[in-house]
Amino acid sequence: MGRRDLAPEVIARLEEDGPQVVLLDQRRLPDEEVNLECRTAADVAEAIRTLAVRGAPAIGIAAAYGLALAALRGDDLAEAERVLAASRPTAVNLFWALERMRSEPTPEHARALHREEVERCRRMAAHAADLFGAGTRALTHCNAGGLATGGYGSAVGALRTAWERGLLASVLVDETRPLLQGSRLTAWELEAIGIPHAVIADSAAASMMARGEVDLVVTGADRIAANGDTANKIGTYALAVLAAHHAIPLYVVAPTSTVDLTTPTGAEIPIEERDPSEVSARFSARNPAFDVTPAALIAAIVTEKGVHRPPYLETLAA
Ligand code: MRU
Repeated sequence: MGRRDLAPEVIARLEEDGPQVVLLDQRRLPDEEVNLECRTAADVAEAIRTLAVRGAPAIGIAAAYGLALAALRGDDLAEAERVLAASRPTAVNLFWALERMRSEPTPEHARALHREEVERCRRMAAHAADLFGAGTRALTHCNAGGLATGGYGSAVGALRTAWERGLLASVLVDETRPLLQGSRLTAWELEAIGIPHAVIADSAAASMMARGEVDLVVTGADRIAANGDTANKIGTYALAVLAAHHAIPLYVVAPTSTVDLTTPTGAEIPIEERDPSEVSARFSARNPAFDVTPAALIAAIVTEKGVHRPPYLETLAA
C-alpha cells in the first residue's frame, strides 16, 4: 500500500441513482482531481475519445459501465454498443469488454469486470516483479498505472510490487509526447506511492541507456497480436530499438484482456491517428497515437497467467 492508494471506484464507477458513470477526469491531472459525470453511453464514448479516461483496461471498464448505464436508462443497447465501440480503435480491451457485457449488461456485471481487471493487475505485477534484480533502475513510457487499468496498474503495478519487495531503486519516466501521460499521470502515481522517479524528455532515453543508467524497460500494451507484436503508446517502438541496441530487456506487462489471438500480427492492428492539433496547433502535423513493437524486441510478455517468453505464438496461445 502506498502513501495514497487510488481506489478503483475513484477512477471509474457507475452510480445507479442518477444514473451516471463517474470518471476521474485524467485530462485535468495532476493539477486538479475533478470528476466527470456521464449521463449517457454517448457521454462515456466522448470521455474515452477525448482521453478523460484512457489506458487500455480502463477504456474497457468505462465502456462496460457505459453499456450498463444505457441498459439502466432503457436505451437502445445495440446503438449504445456501436457508439462506444467507435470511440477509439486500438485498445482491444474496449471490444473485449463490450462483448463480455452483451449477454448481461448489468451494473453488477460491469463492477465484476472492473474488479477482475484489478485482480489481474495484482497477479501480473507479482509475476513481473520476479524479473527485477536488486537495485533495478527501470524506465517506463506513457501511463500503465492504476489510472490506466481501473486500479493498481500493469507496468506501474510491476514497479509497485518490485518496490514493495525492495528490488526497485528508481524509475525514469518518459514524459510521453504529445499528451504527456508520463509526466502528468505516471509521475503523479509514483509520487503518491513514494517511488523515487525522474521525468525525462522522451529523446533523453537513448543517452541514459548509453550511460548505463537503465537496467530494464517496462511498458503496458493496447493490443498484443497472436505472434507477440505489441501496440502501445507512440514511442514504445523507439524505446524497444534503443533497448535492443544497449542489450537492455524490454518487458510488456498486460492482462489477457489485451491479448488478441484473432489478430495474427502487428500489421493487422488498427493504429489510431489523432487530431494533428495535439502535436502542432500552428503547422501541418501527423499524430499516430500508437506504434507496434515487433515481438523480436520484447524479452517477455507478462500477463496474470505468468511470464511468456518467445516463441509467443506458442506461449501466448497456451
Ligand atoms: O492514449 P492512451 O493514453 O490511452 O495510451 C495508453 C497506453 O499506451 C498504455 O501504455 C496502454 O494502454 C497500457 S495501459 C495499462
